[in-house]
Amino acid sequence: MRKPVMAGNWKMYKTPAETCSFFQTFRPLVEAAEHCDIVICPPFVNLAAAVESARGTRIKIGAQNLYWAKEGAFTGEVSGPMILATGAAYVIIGHSERRQYFGETDETVLKRTLAALDAGLIPIVCVGERLEQREAGATETVLCQQCQKGILSLEPARFAKVVIAYEPVWAIGTGKTATPGMAAEAHGIIRREVRNRYGDESAREIRILYGGSVKPENTKALMAQPEIDGVLVGGASLDPVSFASIVNYHS
Ligand code: PGA
Repeated sequence: MRKPVMAGNWKMYKTPAETCSFFQTFRPLVEAAEHCDIVICPPFVNLAAAVESARGTRIKIGAQNLYWAKEGAFTGEVSGPMILATGAAYVIIGHSERRQYFGETDETVLKRTLAALDAGLIPIVCVGERLEQREAGATETVLCQQCQKGILSLEPARFAKVVIAYEPVWAIGTGKTATPGMAAEAHGIIRREVRNRYGDESAREIRILYGGSVKPENTKALMAQPEIDGVLVGGASLDPVSFASIVNYHS
């Protein structure tokens, strides 16, 4: 069985002090949660504080982006080896906000994914359709294209390390969650593409998370779908009690 990944994406919220105080409340609430992997992705400046606060627990820390060069004259950028050196283990790649506001394309998503794998980080690679694409009936085409130009061009051994996040852009931060059925259908499309490219075993093992207005109230229904292997949570991951109840969705 695939172990669920419950991941929080803090986006551009919280200072190092706020990060420490989040963990003080959060740690005891998820101490018994062994059914899943827990990942918190704070802004770069909080990585060290988060790693320190999570020490001695099963909680892993991730960044929200990276640049593909290892080092160099790239003002404002942060590389995979730098992120790994903070003690972080994951990195979110190709989030729709990066695609929408910061010019991220399928090509740069692939470059960053390769750089994450080179550095020894686990990439959480995001795909998802925009509202007008869904309304035009193009969801499947968009997902297939994003996957084919990105993760499906990895060699099999490298692909095995990736986590995929399906995040319909129209559901992010809008309060409009995809229904569990809609999410499962999209996950099924992605898994089918994985099967076509890498075979049955890879399709069985790849973890596909759902993201977009996940809340304590809707997590159980989403997680009841066999296709959904975890969640990537924005807004509801900022509050330790709310994110802990998402992690502990089955209790
Ligand atoms: P949201 O964000 O949960 O606030 O909709 C999800 C995401 O962007 O990963």
